[in-house]
Amino acid sequence: QPQEGRLLLASHSLFADLPPADLDSLLSHSRPVLFTAGEAIVREGAKGRSLYQVITGRVEVEKEVQPGHTIHVAELGPGEVFGEMTLFQGAPRSATVRALEDSRLLRVDRAGVRELLERDPDLLERFAQLVNSRRRELESLGHEEQQREASNLLEAMRNLFFALGGG
Ligand code: CMP
Repeated sequence: QPQEGRLLLASHSLFADLPPADLDSLLSHSRPVLFTAGEAIVREGAKGRSLYQVITGRVEVEKEVQPGHTIHVAELGPGEVFGEMTLFQGAPRSATVRALEDSRLLRVDRAGVRELLERDPDLLERFAQLVNSRRRELESLGHEEQQREASNLLEAMRNLFFALGGG
């Protein structure tokens, strides 16, 4: 159903203004994939070559801020896109994205995105904005986490110090 695919892609502001031919070209590099609740779609630290758009269901973005300590970053639902950071920064996946419920996603391969970028330089700018805001959010989460750790440490030191009494 090409019409359905176009509508889905165009429901995201990244692709909303693309002509139908460009949407079709993206779709020709895409396929629907299914994930069950709890399954990881992309894993933090892994290599990746695909961009995803949620068709139905919900996914969670989570980041390991310290070994064994994972925090919730965001939840994404139908129409929303993820996986763009690796595509554009050439870095490993910045976070794990996991299906919160059985979810259907559109997986777009890198070549499809590249083809479009050649034709539409504005698209790169829109992607850059998305990458930037998400990257900033990830960084600030890291900082908040560090501050929380620091204040926990302070608290532990204070407790220990006063628990030891006046020796
Ligand atoms: P990528 O690094 O390829 O893989 C993990 C994805 O999680 C990342 O691309 C983004 O699409 C998504 N992601 C990372 N940080 C955030 C955020 N702060 N909000 C929403 N999504 C994010």
